Amino acid sequence: MASLAILGGSSSQPLAYRIAKGLRTEYIRIETRKFPDGEKYARIHGNVEGKSIVLVQSMYHRPDEYLMEYFLIVDTLKDLGAKKVIGVIPYFAYARQDHRFNPGEILSLKTVFKLIKDVGTDELYVIDMHRHRMGDELMKSIGLPTHNLTAMRLLGRYALDRFRLEDPVVLGPDEEAEQWARIAAEEIGAEYVCLVKRRISDREVETRPRRELDLRGKDVLIVDDIVSTGGTMVNAVTIALKQGAKRVIAACTHPILVENALVKVLEAGAEALIGTDTVPSPISYVSVAPVIIDALRHLA
Ligand code: R5P
Repeated sequence: MASLAILGGSSSQPLAYRIAKGLRTEYIRIETRKFPDGEKYARIHGNVEGKSIVLVQSMYHRPDEYLMEYFLIVDTLKDLGAKKVIGVIPYFAYARQDHRFNPGEILSLKTVFKLIKDVGTDELYVIDMHRHRMGDELMKSIGLPTHNLTAMRLLGRYALDRFRLEDPVVLGPDEEAEQWARIAAEEIGAEYVCLVKRRISDREVETRPRRELDLRGKDVLIVDDIVSTGGTMVNAVTIALKQGAKRVIAACTHPILVENALVKVLEAGAEALIGTDTVPSPISYVSVAPVIIDALRHLA
């Protein structure tokens, strides 16, 4: 088996370093900066020839910039003789536009996957990306082996221990969150239930319980993949409290947190909002490093 080395793009260097430590494998430093006109410069400080290279690069906040840097680095790795390039993109942006909802719209998920493959990625790891998107025929036709890992066990365990949850129930803020609520609930030995959401605009959602929901006296853990504007989470927290929840803890894998989302969720009545380091943020209490380390161990 080719020897393994881990590299971190500029969005994910601390996480990449943690993964290298956990796998007891080589960490190769990448220097990045911008030219005065804003173009990206990157330099790989190590030998990659004949090695399997893991490149960790999340796509939060400035997805275009991080994506471009990813392309430049992967192409260079292949030029420099890397045997295999394994992309780890913990937060995968551009995944929500996976259908042409209106005529003439872009299919960003397809385009980005295609480019990631064509530039030289041999295998890809992402975290908590919508499963139905992953299974799509369109994705399969691109032919990039992709592994969808989950942070939900780590988040569930962290919430249970840190907040000493008693008689907890896990709540999914919409039907898509069923896939995550189920895993978090299983981890902490709780029941789960999901709400129904209708998106009205980029910033506005309408949420309702699917059926009669009695949360009286319960500690409720709400789990979702992303908190972006916070609209989805605010509605879920409000409903949980209205249905009698004693305490509400909100959790997400990717704390994008735009437009004051953290304050909005806390003001809605959540005791805390917790997230992971797929997106470094003030609430990234949980590292996804253990999940990635486990998934890559067979390569080390
Ligand atoms: C949507 O399907 C996702 O699972 C999240 O619920 C959504 O991205 C959260 O966005 P926001 O925080 O803006 O409501």
